[in-house]
This record gives sequence, structure tokens and C-alpha cells, in this order.
Amino acid sequence: MCGIVAFTGTVDARSILLGGLARLEYRGYDSAGLALLNPKTGLIDIIKKVKQPGRGMVEVLREAVPENSASAGDDSFFVATGIGHTRWATHGVPSVANAHPHGDCTGEIAVVHNGIVENHTALREELLARGHEFRSQTDTEVVAHLVEEYYVACNEDLVEAVRAAVARLSGSFALAIAHAKHPKELVVARNDSPLVLGVTDYGAIAASDTPAIIEHTRDVVYLGDRHLAILRADGSYECQDPAGIVYVPTTVRVEHSLEDAERGGFPDFMLKEIYEQPRVLRDTIAGRFCAANKCEQAHLNFDELSLTQEELRTIERVVIVACGTSYHAGLIGAELMEAWARVPVSVEVASEFCYRNPIVNSHTLVVAISQSGETADTLEAVRLARRAGAHVLGITNVVGSRITLEANTTIFIKAHLEISVAATKSFLAQVALLTLLAMHLGCVRNQLAADKMAAIFSELLALPEKLESMLADVNSIKEAAEKCKDASTMLFIGRGVGATTCYEGALKLKEISYLHAEAFAAGEIKHGPLALIDPSANTPVVALATQSATYEKMLANIEEVIARGAHVVVLATEGDERIAKLALQGIDVIYIPKVPECLSPILASVPLQLFARYIAVARNCDVDQPRNLAKSVTVV
Ligand code: AGP
Repeated sequence: MCGIVAFTGTVDARSILLGGLARLEYRGYDSAGLALLNPKTGLIDIIKKVKQPGRGMVEVLREAVPENSASAGDDSFFVATGIGHTRWATHGVPSVANAHPHGDCTGEIAVVHNGIVENHTALREELLARGHEFRSQTDTEVVAHLVEEYYVACNEDLVEAVRAAVARLSGSFALAIAHAKHPKELVVARNDSPLVLGVTDYGAIAASDTPAIIEHTRDVVYLGDRHLAILRADGSYECQDPAGIVYVPTTVRVEHSLEDAERGGFPDFMLKEIYEQPRVLRDTIAGRFCAANKCEQAHLNFDELSLTQEELRTIERVVIVACGTSYHAGLIGAELMEAWARVPVSVEVASEFCYRNPIVNSHTLVVAISQSGETADTLEAVRLARRAGAHVLGITNVVGSRITLEANTTIFIKAHLEISVAATKSFLAQVALLTLLAMHLGCVRNQLAADKMAAIFSELLALPEKLESMLADVNSIKEAAEKCKDASTMLFIGRGVGATTCYEGALKLKEISYLHAEAFAAGEIKHGPLALIDPSANTPVVALATQSATYEKMLANIEEVIARGAHVVVLATEGDERIAKLALQGIDVIYIPKVPECLSPILASVPLQLFARYIAVARNCDVDQPRNLAKSVTVV
């Protein structure tokens, strides 16, 4: 979603703001802008640009930022204070007028905003009636005019003006506000949209996400809902609750490095993140297993869970809520939980769950999965579940994210910073963690014997090495991608957890290559999708046929689509001679190491991620920043 950076200090704000915005580019954007407090004129310079094809947004913005503020030729001053924004359009088309920052009528105030001001229409009418002039179609602009009004009403006290303005807003917002008459401070505020603060020897900085900050400091503060903070050029800040009470916030140490936020020699973040997956798996598994000793059976360590073992035993239902890729991880987790813990599990798309009066009560465990921890639909689902009395377990990758504050308990996946919009390593970490959680529930509920759990765990331990061997030779994936890159549409088929793996494979292909793809439970193809296959239609089929209980049935499905003239790409287990024979008939085969069916999604997802990426690259798509998409979807 949109990105915010705000800085005030004793070094030039322009390079800090542009550097910060560059680190937020991964979130997706259609335009960007800066507001700089010009010390020469005492005014605010606002510079805004719309994304140009084939060019980085920040690069375009950098060219437009005057070398020495507004006065060319004079290098004797620097800009101490400014705010920057990358926009992902919600209200109003992508355009210079709608790009942030937005100003008030006096030209003294500039505002950048993430989120949606839900009551903006009523506020706009009210402000128009009082003579304010609007220049954009955005919901954000009302904030600038509200601050303008309250600034006068509050005797030019900027903090009080912002507090009064924020009190009028409903919806979600992270805001940074600059005022020309307050050149050494900025005011920031938030509700339901992330905002992080930090200080350095040379100033104070705020941003919508940590990559924009960690170059300057690793000790950050996550601002509370409807709280505001004043950033000062002397490198201090002051946090206030909604009533204006000043408090000392808790500082959180950001563990991921700047290098994590850079490509490390890979052509794109997605490829880098795919190759990080063996490490992510190791980190996710580490420390979970406790071997049997004289007093205890082998068991898994889930100390983070605030539910007692007795409470876990009395859960009547599990409901998993998530969106997109996290939803697919949930589908896999559900199958394993039902199999091992013998508890009914339903998986719900969070945006549907919230609006259909679901059956949830105090005997329900709601598992909310979100890489970012900021997805608005998932957060709404969490709130609904809490109101209904359910215990909510959040599974996220981001420390300090919204979900960690709203769920009863949080478990962190160990994917580390994920920058590419297409989720890869976070998916793998989610699936691995849900696999462990399903095993844990199975053991606690006496449905999964300790020795069986230990056997599955040792298979899990072997996966990172198997993954490394797969990643060492990806030629068969590249070749299959080359043959499929010009397809008109693609079908993915599998059974059981293989079908879910295919849902994720098809989503990955769609989102980064813009090639239409659909996944089906393979048994369903003869109920409709088979009609799409025609030798002249260029509709390749990707079939997941690794060793499983439904392997024979998958082979039959593969024969069905070959017989109708489809080009087929099969994911099969190394050493599968029957598939090797089919390969002689011209199908493409991607082999994966032998693995129990319950763990197969972890290995099989990776070639599908690479397959999507190679096709996207062959189609000249921007792999890390697919059109119209954003890394964290903070609007419903
Ligand atoms: C993943 O590739 C997608 N970009 C998207 O579906 C994503 O998984 C979804 O928006 C949910 O995000 P979250 O996990 O941060 O909640």
C-alpha cells in the first residue's frame, strides 16, 4: 500500500526522504511526492510525479527535486524538514493532483496519508461550505483543511490542531503533517495503519514500514491507535495518547538487516527470497522439538501459545482466516490439523468471513494468518472473532504489526523481511509453522502418537537440505517455463494438499506474469474445465503428481489431459519411472525429492514459484512490483 517517510533534523532531509521512499517502493505505487520546508522562502515546496513506464518512481522524483531547495545556485542551506509519500490509488485516479502530499488553502500545511478516511465525503462538504478549496479527488485532502481550521482555533498550536483534526476522522490512517511555521518539527498520527518512529543523532524519522528507517536506527517505536507523536529536529520525539497524555513508548529492536532489504546480487527480490527458503525453514523448525526423556514423551515446544493444554483439548472447532497466499497456507494447515488433531477446521477468506455472521464462540480457536500483520480484511476478521468470544491466534512475520496487538496470542514465522509483493518464503514458513502446530494439537489432544510426531519431525528436519539440492539445478523449471510463456491460459491440477499447492502456484503465476491461470482439484476437471483443453488453444496443464495416496488417480488425470492434446508439465517424485516413461511422449517433468505427502507442499511450492517467476521474466514483467498490487493491503 502507500508508503510514508517523514524526517526533521540537522542533515539534509531530501536524501533521507528519497532514500526512505526508495526502500518502500516494493509496496507498490502509482505516484509519489515530497513536501520540503524551504528555509529560503519559509514556504513548503511540494513536488509530485506520476509513475512512468520503465522508470523507478524515486528516480523520477529525485530528478525533480531542486538541488538546493527552490533557489537554484545557492548551496549554502539544506532542507531540515520534509515528508514523502508513494501512493497506491484508492480515492481518485493516479495523477499529479491526487498524489500526496496534499496542502491546505494557505499553502502552509502539507499532509501525507496511508489508509482511508471513511467519512471524507461529509467532511469535504462541511469544509467546502466553509469556503475551503479542494484540488484533488482524494479522501486525504480533508485532513489538510481540517488541520488548517483547527490551527486557527487552537491559537497556532500545531499539535492540538492535529489532535482535533484526527478526532474528526473515521477509518484508517497513518499521517505525517508539516507546517511552514514549524520548520523544526513534524506531527504524525495513526489509526489502523502502520507507523514506525525512530531517532538518530541527526534527527527524528517516521515511516510506514521499517525498511525506510533501519538505515538510520534499529530501535523503533510502533505508535498506538489514535496516538500522535511530535518529531523534533534535535533528534527527539514525544508520544501522546488520544487525550494528550505524554508517555514513554516501548522501543523495539528491529532484527532484520539493511542487507535483507537489498537484493544481495539477485536480479530481483523474489528470486532472492525463493533462495532464502532453506534458511527460513531451518529457522522455523529450530527449537520446536523436545526429545523424549525419562519423564516426558517427545513433544513440540509452543511456549508462545497462551492457551493451556486443557484449553487446547477442549477446543471444539478451529477457524482459519486469511487472504491470498496466507489463505492457501491456511488450507494446507487445515488438512493437517483435521488429520492429526481430529478437530473440525474451516478456512475462510477473511473478506467473506467478516460479512456473513459466522458461527464462532468461546470454544472456537480462530487462527488469523497474515505475513504483514496489517491486512485490513484479516484484522476485521480478528475483531469479529474477539467480539464473539473466540481465542484468536495470530500468525505473522512482522513484529509490532497490528495483528500482534489485536490477537490474544501471536506466533511469528521466521521468514525475515519479505520485500517482493509476491509472497514466497513467508508462505513456506507459514506452511511449516502450521504443520508444526497441527502436530502439536494432535499430540496435546492425544490423537497423534509421540513416535509418529517424532518421525514426521525428522522428515521435516531433512527438508532444508532437499530444498537446497532442488535449488541447485533449476534447468527443468526454466525449460518448462520457456515452453509455457506464451500460453493463453494455464490449468493447475492436484489432489489433497497437492490441489492447494496448485492454488498457490496459479496465484503466483497470475500475479506476477499476468498470464491467466486457474487451479482445480484434479477430480473436478472432467466436470467442466476439461472443455478448455484443445490442441489449438495453447492451454498447458501443470499437474502435481508426487507420491501420495491419490497418485494413481493423478496419473489417470494426466492421461486425460494428454489425450486431449494439452502440453503437460508434471511435478513428480525423483525416481518415478512411470512418469519418466510419459516424459518420452513429450511432457515436461520437474522432479522433487521424495517426501511424505503431508510435507509435499513445502517442496512442491518452490518449483511453482520459480516457474511463475521465469515466465514473468520472459514476459518482461516487473517481478517484484506487479501492476495494481501492493505488499500490504491495509484497506478493506
Ligand atoms: C501474495 O503473493 C499476495 N501478494 C497476496 O495474496 C497476499 O498473500 C495477501 O494480500 C495477504 O497478505 P498478508 O499475508 O500480509 O495478510
